Amino acid sequence: MEEYLKRDNPFSQIYKNVNNGSNQKKYEQFKRGKSNLLPSLIDIELTNLCNYKCCFCPTGTNAMQRIKGMMPDNVVDAIIENLNRYKIGGVRFIRWGEPTMHPKYLEIIERVKKTGTLVHINTNGSRLDDKQIKKLLDINLDSIKFSFQGADEGTYNEIRENGDYVQLLKTIRRFYELRAEKKLPFIQVSTTLTNETKDQIESFKSDVGNICDYVNIGYTVLNHLSVGQMNISNGQKKKIIELQKREVKQRKYMKVCNEAFDKLSINWNGDITLCCSDYDNFMIVGNILDNDIKQIFNCRAADIYREIIANGEYGKIKCCSTCYEVIPLDK
Ligand SMILES: C[S@@+](CC[C@H](N)C(=O)[O-])C[C@H]1O[C@@H](n2cnc3c(N)ncnc32)[C@H](O)[C@@H]1O
Ligand code: SF4
Ligand code: SF4
Repeated sequence: MEEYLKRDNPFSQIYKNVNNGSNQKKYEQFKRGKSNLLPSLIDIELTNLCNYKCCFCPTGTNAMQRIKGMMPDNVVDAIIENLNRYKIGGVRFIRWGEPTMHPKYLEIIERVKKTGTLVHINTNGSRLDDKQIKKLLDINLDSIKFSFQGADEGTYNEIRENGDYVQLLKTIRRFYELRAEKKLPFIQVSTTLTNETKDQIESFKSDVGNICDYVNIGYTVLNHLSVGQMNISNGQKKKIIELQKREVKQRKYMKVCNEAFDKLSINWNGDITLCCSDYDNFMIVGNILDNDIKQIFNCRAADIYREIIANGEYGKIKCCSTCYEVIPLDK
C-alpha cells in the first residue's frame, strides 16, 4: 500500500494553549461574571447513545443517569448561530456517545465547517462506509480520531464489547487510502492500555502506524466508575472487577485543568457543561437555547466552579474528584 507524508494536527496550537499555564493564572482572567472571553474549543455531543458497550464508559455501561437522545434541529441551529456570531478556534464532535449514530451527523459537520472553525470527530469507526468517508473528505473535515482500547484483538474485545478490531483496522486503512494526497483530515488513532506488554504495544504500533498520521497511547481509567452504578449483567460486572484489579497503579495528580477555563461542552439537549468528561450534569452552566455561548462562558455560575478548581478543592465537584492523570508503574 502506498504510504503518504504524515499530516500535522491542525488543532495543535489550540491544544498547546489549553494545556499551558496554571489554574490560578487562568482563573485570574475571569472577573466574577463580568469578563468578556470566548472559549478556545467547543465539544459537542450529538448523541449519548452508542452501539458499543465499552466497560470503562458511562454510556456503554449505562452508568449514566441522564436521558438519552439525539441532538434536535433547534439545538443544532442555535449552535450554528453562535458559531457564526463568535470566532471559535475549534469544534469537536466527541463526548459520551457515538457521533456517527446521529442521522444528520454529516450534514451537521458540514454546517459547522462552513462557519469557518476547525472541526474534529472522534469515532469508534463502526459505521463508516465508503460513502460516508468520501463525504467527510469532501466537506474538508480537519481531523478524525479512531478509538481503540487494548493493543490487539483480544485486549480490544475485553474492553470494547460489540467492537470488531479487524474491521476497524480495515476502515482506517480505507480512510487513509481514500484521503490519498489530500491535505486533510489529520488521521489519529488512539488506544488506552490496562496491562498490555511492551511487545503487544509495539505490534499495535506497527499495525496502525502506516495507516494514520499519529498514534496516541494512554491508559484506560477503570476505577472512576463504580460497578454498583452500572446497569449491566452480573457476568459483565464480574469481568469489569477482574479488569479493575489488573489496572496499572495510578496516582492522583493534577497539573492543569484543560477544560473549565478554556472550553465549553454541549450535551445533545443543549445543556452546557464546563467539562467534556462531565457525563451526568455535574457542572451545568446554561443551555444554548436560553443564552449565547459568550454569556454562558463568562457567567458567575461558571466562575464559581473555576474558583473551586483554582483553589484545588476538586473534591467539591463530583467529576473533578476523580480527575487525575494515570501514572504507570514501570513493568
Ligand atoms: C467516550 S468516547 C466517545 C466517542 C466515540 N464513541 C469513541 O469511542 O471514540 C471518547 C474517547 O474517550 C476515551 N475515553 C473516555 N473515557 C475513558 C477512560 N475511562 N479511559 C480511557 N479512555 C477513555 C475513549 O477511548 C474515546 O477515545
Ligand atoms: S464507543 Fe465510545 S461512547 Fe460508545 S461505549 Fe465505547 S467509548 Fe463509550
Ligand atoms: S474534571 Fe474538573 S478538574 Fe478535571 S478537567 Fe474536568 S473540570 Fe478540570
